[in-house]
Amino acid sequence: MATGHEKIETNIGLMAILTILVISIGGLVQIVPLFFMQHTTTAIEGLEPYNALQLTGRDIYIRESCNACHSQMIRPFRAETERYGHYSVAGEFVYDRPFLWGSKRTGPDLHRVGGRYSDEWHRVHLNNPRDVVPESIMPGYPWLEESPADAETIVKKMEVLKMLGHPYTDEQIANSPKALEGKTEQDALIAYLQVLGTAIKTRR
Ligand code: HEC
Repeated sequence: MATGHEKIETNIGLMAILTILVISIGGLVQIVPLFFMQHTTTAIEGLEPYNALQLTGRDIYIRESCNACHSQMIRPFRAETERYGHYSVAGEFVYDRPFLWGSKRTGPDLHRVGGRYSDEWHRVHLNNPRDVVPESIMPGYPWLEESPADAETIVKKMEVLKMLGHPYTDEQIANSPKALEGKTEQDALIAYLQVLGTAIKTRR
């Protein structure tokens, strides 16, 4: 007669049910508290949703796979905060869909790059990184300077984000194509880089 643990070990159905039960308790203990932690889902003070130009730049950042080499997540360790500034907090990312945190750092983390360099530095750097950082292995993106920013899809994009809870006004959405008039993809990308991580003031 099998008893106790032997009963479980010799009955695959019972074993499966009990395994699932144990795993779900472990999972729920981690997941349930998140529903009650407001600071992980509420925007920090001073955080604005990306405007039309910044949002367009963010999509170019994703299209060009900048996130394949750059993370946007400063960990709360001294070595990181000394180099990049204040560590990243959850409330800074509520308007990031999708998140671009990443963990692959071929280049430096970019979460607090906003305001660190001038627009002009970024222009030169994006056209040919080696003009400002001779040892750089980052590829150049000179075509961004010549491609106009896409004003056709911006209204739709902002409408969808509004539906998901981004606080855009109807006026902001209606004016968005105008905000992109005469702008290049490079202008948009730089506008995005310059706002990154600026809601928290850092020592830089
Ligand atoms: C192949 C990997 C790679 C890709 C892809 C890449 N970068 Fe870089 N990036 C680097 C490296 C390495 C550096 C450090 C050297 C330098 O400053 O050029 C860097 C530096 C930077 C810096 C300066 C950061 C600082 O704090 O000094 C910015 C801004 C930047 N990259 C933006 C971008 C953007 C925007 C894109 C996409 C259009 C991009 N990178 C794509 C590798 C990459």
